[in-house]
Amino acid sequence: MRGDKKALSASAKRGFNLFAGKAKCATCHFIPLFNGVVPPAWAETESEVLGVPATRDRKNPTLDDDPGKYLFTRSEAHRYAFKTPTLRNVALTAPYMHNGVFQTLEEVMEFYNKGGGKGLHIAPEYQTLPFDNLRLTRKEIKDIIAFMRALTDTSFVR
Ligand code: HEC
Repeated sequence: MRGDKKALSASAKRGFNLFAGKAKCATCHFIPLFNGVVPPAWAETESEVLGVPATRDRKNPTLDDDPGKYLFTRSEAHRYAFKTPTLRNVALTAPYMHNGVFQTLEEVMEFYNKGGGKGLHIAPEYQTLPFDNLRLTRKEIKDIIAFMRALTDTSFVR
């Protein structure tokens, strides 16, 4: 974004455009922190209901029963809601989601591409993730993962 044309590979650049466009990721993982902290004051963080499964069983998926933010607010709209975490350094922090159900970014992408819990037919009443099948091709999924891998720090303050 600062103009260094070599900072991202061509694949990661395509991935960024998908992330911010067709795949709708940036509607929750806000640029530039890629979490749910709301600009411009950065004082609140958004929670979302995705319909995360309890296990990796694709044949008989069940909804993870952790009530999430509901435990704090006692509001039905927050049942199964979790904060949107940052994707910075996400390539280093498997497993994924609040319960660690997905081992790889490929598995995370498969979940999103189907429309989250809705696509697995386990969606809670108030799923806030758009229900639509994203219709991402294999190449597009690879590009989005290349972009997420590009969010890995390459220098550290010692
Ligand atoms: C409706 C809001 C929303 C959208 C859209 C969304 N996410 Fe997420 N994302 C979340 C929330 C909330 C979590 C945490 C879920 C949990 O803990 O169960 C999450 C978790 C993740 C994680 C796991 C992070 C970790 O450390 O466990 C990855 C990776 C991720 N999202 C990538 C994406 C990508 C790529 C897209 C676009 C295809 C996307 N997200 C679209 C809200 C969203």
